[in-house]
Amino acid sequence: MTILVTGGAGFIGSNFVLDWAAQTAEKVITLDALTYAGNRDNLASLAGNERHHFVHGDIADRALLDQLLDTHQPRAIVHFAAESHVDRSIHGPGAFIKTNVEGTFTLLEAARAYWTRLGEDVRSDFRFLHVSTDEVYGSLTPDAPAFTETHPFEPNSPYSASKAASDHLVRAWHHTYGLPVLTTNCSNNYGPFHFPEKLIPLMIVNALAGKPLPVYGDGQQIRDWLYVKDHCSAIRAVLARGRVGETYNVGGWNEKANLDIVRTVCALLDELRPSSEGPYARLITYVKDRPGHDRRYAIDARKIERELGWRPAETFETGIRKTVQWYLDHPAWVARVQSGAYRDWMEKQYA
Ligand code: NAD
Ligand code: TYD
Repeated sequence: MTILVTGGAGFIGSNFVLDWAAQTAEKVITLDALTYAGNRDNLASLAGNERHHFVHGDIADRALLDQLLDTHQPRAIVHFAAESHVDRSIHGPGAFIKTNVEGTFTLLEAARAYWTRLGEDVRSDFRFLHVSTDEVYGSLTPDAPAFTETHPFEPNSPYSASKAASDHLVRAWHHTYGLPVLTTNCSNNYGPFHFPEKLIPLMIVNALAGKPLPVYGDGQQIRDWLYVKDHCSAIRAVLARGRVGETYNVGGWNEKANLDIVRTVCALLDELRPSSEGPYARLITYVKDRPGHDRRYAIDARKIERELGWRPAETFETGIRKTVQWYLDHPAWVARVQSGAYRDWMEKQYA
């Protein structure tokens, strides 16, 4: 048995591929375009593993997709590949439409053609699992109930609008063509291999370098944080037991204001790698707010808990401690991802 994972060299995809290789005997094909966010280092521990095959390519390349599907005959596609950073989507939305909308469309069409050709015996077991985000639901007021799967789509950023579009395509390919799809909408992830332009890893690497910790606006925006390995276990549960055509919200019941997240990271670093200059919180710097900044996200995860028995293994306290320790233990990984392209982005966003 084989699965095809798109975007498997990115943050969540690489955690998923590593966990899959460790926990199953199945072969994994990773398809990744290696954008600034994709990093072969993330999968370095699989070098020489005959059950893992890496393909450098684009999900919008239909000929490549047809060839990969015919050659490897996967029983499932797990689709992570996307442009994923809200701030980048504000500076340059075009890439988000290209990959998240057109790329997902191309992948769906290739999957449909492949699935149609499959023999009756394996056809009903095939799955297309689309990995999406809670950001498609928009922003919540402070007292509003958390997002359920039936919450209306109200995306506010070019990123979330492009993901919402891809979710709609996936839904339509099921309703119109019968493609056996599953969709997950997850809250903010954190953990190993997180690219350091997102909040938590950025705060860790900036603090260690003695640089300012940029907090947008008043820092009171709320996100619902989930340790990445728990997201991966949720995806495995949905792939194994999810009802075809359904969507499942995934979250850790961990709503936190950004400023509290930054303070927690500082306190952990004070404990694990104290600075001779004083507490890391001295570096907190308020900067201009993100345009259209969503105020609050929160996930109601009762459906996946009830139907599939999924629960996160980590609390925020255990997960964030592991995460900070991982960055302290992997200075070479951090140094390598802070390439010229990374420096250009930091200059553009925070100058
Ligand atoms: P990421 O940006 O770290 O990784 C994306 C990966 O996709 C990279 O390896 C990149 O090279 C690859 N990629 C980009 N364009 C491609 C293309 N055209 N063809 C092939 N590969 C391409 O993102 P992530 O944080 O790992 O997110 C993965 C998925 O999970 C995304 O679909 C995202 O919307 C979703 N998601 C992320 C979060 C989060 O907190 N990070 C939360 C919920 C859902
Ligand atoms: P981010 O990690 O970009 O995820 P998302 O926008 O998808 O939720 O940002 C998380 C939160 O942190 C978001 O409210 C924006 C805020 N933020 C800052 O305050 N400063 C920063 O430098 C960054 C990157 C994010």
